[in-house]
Amino acid sequence: MEKLSSVAKTFTASAIQELSHLAQRSNVINLAEGFPDFPAPPHIKHSAIAAITSDFNQYRHVQGICDQLAEIVKKTHGLDINPLTDIAICCGQTEAFAAAVFAIIDKGDEVVLFDPCYETYEGCIRMAGGVPVYVALDPPHWTLDPVKLVKSFTVRTKAIVLNSPQNPTGKVFTGDELEIIAEICRIRNCMAITDEVYEHVTFDNNKHISLASFRGMQERTIITSSLSKTFSVTGWRIGWAIAPTFIASAMRNIHVKLTDSAPAPFQEAALTALRSFPEYFESLRRDYESKRDYMIKVLAGIGFKIQFKPQGSTFLFAELPENCPLTDVEYIKELIEKAGVVAVPGSGFFHKNSSFQKRFIRFAFCKSESTLAAAAQKLGELSKCREMSQTTSTQKDN
Ligand SMILES: Cc1ncc(COP(=O)(O)O)c(C=O)c1O
Repeated sequence: MEKLSSVAKTFTASAIQELSHLAQRSNVINLAEGFPDFPAPPHIKHSAIAAITSDFNQYRHVQGICDQLAEIVKKTHGLDINPLTDIAICCGQTEAFAAAVFAIIDKGDEVVLFDPCYETYEGCIRMAGGVPVYVALDPPHWTLDPVKLVKSFTVRTKAIVLNSPQNPTGKVFTGDELEIIAEICRIRNCMAITDEVYEHVTFDNNKHISLASFRGMQERTIITSSLSKTFSVTGWRIGWAIAPTFIASAMRNIHVKLTDSAPAPFQEAALTALRSFPEYFESLRRDYESKRDYMIKVLAGIGFKIQFKPQGSTFLFAELPENCPLTDVEYIKELIEKAGVVAVPGSGFFHKNSSFQKRFIRFAFCKSESTLAAAAQKLGELSKCREMSQTTSTQKDN
């Protein structure tokens, strides 16, 4: 008898986690995993400490902080939400996404995803027996082609997954693009699962708009989000979903079966976090924008092609220099071994076969200024070293 399930047999360790782990073990600068290496804001740390001191240490009822969260989301998303029925608190967006998929996907249901995209979606969909169907975003600007999108929907399509601002590209879907997605969901009677973890990290004049705010979409959208990125607390594992009543109720039941409840003291601190002054969100946005600009300058300076400036998120998806003969995986190997820096090979985010997919590297810039400066220096040295070895080999060839 097979001991592992057929789905489990197809899973491998997360490449990003493995690279990150390698960085932690070997003192390599970690621009791989999207977690900040700087402290969380003091006001929310104090709130978490106070919650533990006040003995918020036991299982929390599934209702948790739903009431207060509803008030906040009503304001930020302009949605009419019933706190008793339309919210599920989960362990991070990751669990909220899994619960959403388990709540609506049956064996054989197709789920449309954009390509490239964040790595965890596909695994959850396959665990539920669903079939991922990818629609390529067109480089260099990761443009949504409405014809390709329409063609990806079939009679078996149950849902589309939308992550905006997007990991890994940094794309923020425009109002026009969202209207196209909304229209096809309405016509095809499909659900949308949105991942809005970077909702507060947008740059220049780009604004995050939730798909649920489009006509007829609140009743067919499951919004998932979390504290992780907005408050630099990826380890606290507080996330949530906002969904139509019958789906939210199913998700709450699933959440109880998967993890019972999200960490009690951090739910208390979540309220403090979400009630932060507007200045907090503005300074987060400004800090990340300047980190983005810094990394663009560093990478462009050593020949990387940055044809698309991230409009949001904390990632820069950069194309290898024209004269670099290496694939993304080979480059990362060299980056780790010779420069002591780790980032993520872009090919892990692509699912369709295309020639350009081995040319991208994802750099996380949610790091302190000193980490980014140290990485910049090492990237510069590696680039000089590569140039010298290229010149020497050309001279030898001649
Ligand atoms: C697009 C996206 N969604 C979700 C997550 C994970 O969120 P959480 O920590 O809330 O599970 C990440 C983490 O990198 C991410 O990039």
